[in-house]
Order: sequence, then C-alpha cells, then structure tokens
Amino acid sequence: MNSSSAVVIRSAVLSDLPGVYRVCDWTSDPAFPEGVPGRNPDLLGHVYAGPYVVHSPELAGIVADCEGVAGYIFAVADTRAFAEWCEAEWYPTIREQYPLGSGRESDGWIIERIHTPEEIPDEILVPYPAHLHIDLLPRLQGKGAGRALMEWLFERLRERGVPGVHLGVSSENTNAIAFYEHMGFSTLAAGDRGRLMAISL
Ligand SMILES: CC(C)(COP(=O)(O)OP(=O)(O)OC[C@H]1O[C@@H](n2cnc3c(N)ncnc32)[C@H](O)[C@@H]1OP(=O)(O)O)[C@@H](O)C(=O)NCCC(=O)NCCS
Repeated sequence: MNSSSAVVIRSAVLSDLPGVYRVCDWTSDPAFPEGVPGRNPDLLGHVYAGPYVVHSPELAGIVADCEGVAGYIFAVADTRAFAEWCEAEWYPTIREQYPLGSGRESDGWIIERIHTPEEIPDEILVPYPAHLHIDLLPRLQGKGAGRALMEWLFERLRERGVPGVHLGVSSENTNAIAFYEHMGFSTLAAGDRGRLMAISL
C-alpha cells in the first residue's frame, strides 16, 4: 500500500467487531504492539470501538485485508444522542459485568470510564456535534491511510449537514496531535492528561 489512492475503505459490518476490538487494544500503547500484558483486552473496545460499529456503522470506515482489520475511523454525527443511546442500550450489561472496583488494577480507569462516560459541554457540541476515533496498526501507518479515512469520514459528515467534528487525544500522543494539526484540527482545550481538538466542516 503506497499511497492513499490504494487504500480501500468500506463501512463496518458486525463481523468486524473482533478485528476492531483487537486494533483498539493493540494501538493503545505503542510500547506493547499486541496489547498491554495482563490487561483485559475487551475493555477499551467496549468504550472506543464496539458502540460505534453498532450505533453508526455507516460512519465507521474499515481498512481490512486477509490478515484482518488493519485500521478504522469511527464517528457519530450527534454526540449527545449517542451518549443517550449508550446509556440505554450499550452500557447496562457491561456495567453489570464490570462493577466499579472490579477487575485488575490496570483495568481500573477504563472500568471507571464505563461507569462515568466523558461529558462534552454544549459550547463544544453546538459547533462540533460529531466526534471521531481513528487507529491504524503499525503496518498501515505512514502510508496515507489516515488521510484517506479522515477524508472518507468528512465527506459523509458533510452529506449529513454536520457543521464540525471534535476528538480527544492523550497529551503524550505527539504523533497523533501533529497528524490532526496537519489535517486542519485546532486545539480547543489542553490539560495534563488530554487535549480536545476540533475542525469545522
Ligand atoms: C495517527 C494516525 C491515525 C495517522 O495516520 P497515518 O496513516 O499514519 O497518517 P498519513 O500517512 O495518512 O498522513 C496524513 C498526512 O499527515 C501527515 N502526518 C502524519 N503524521 C504526522 C506527524 N507526526 N507530523 C506531521 N505531519 C504528519 C503526513 O505527512 C500526511 O501529509 P500529506 O497527506 O499532506 O502528505 C496513525 O499513525 C495511527 O493510527 N497511530 C496509532 C494510533 C493513534 O495514535 N491513534 C490516534 C489516537 S487519538
């Protein structure tokens, strides 16, 4: 795969779920390219992958080949409506399975996130109602797939009349921050742990 023109993107289907959970887990810490040892490999996907594929498959762009899912971009057009759907449909069973304080110590923060999802204020949701997540395995990085997935998503959000999209990124992920800035995103807020970025469409 040498250029963005060679990247084949399709909308997600439910059979992508194992692959997208794997990519979500494997890209979370570059020091552990096949997942952090000892961590529950399902938990990150329960927050950052599964609900997007089930709720908005048409805004979930997948790059996959005979080795499996290699990368994805996920988005929802209306972050507030998605949060309400997650409360009603997605989280109840997962919260029962993972009560607060359960699991291994390294899983504690994500179990807390499952019980207390991040809330984005209206002043951000009015201009940037959509939000996204993007992750590529190392074999797909640096070859134009990130740009191709972003452009694939922007086209679909514009077709739906969405005025803007935001995202959250760890302050330590300087590579992703530089990629987002290169793609036109600006920083709305930056703290010790994370940065909120957005782009108008
Ligand atoms: C961050 C990530 C999505 C970028 O995707 P990518 O496929 O590697 O990026 P591309 O090759 O498509 O690059 C697109 C453009 O951004 C530029 N770019 C990429 N990384 C850059 C960086 N660190 N600094 C400056 N520009 C950068 C490229 O030069 C390219 O420019 P061009 O299209 O104008 O020529 C991908 O590397 C990734 O998934 N990383 C690991 C997981 C991760 O960090 N996800 C984000 C979590 S918030």
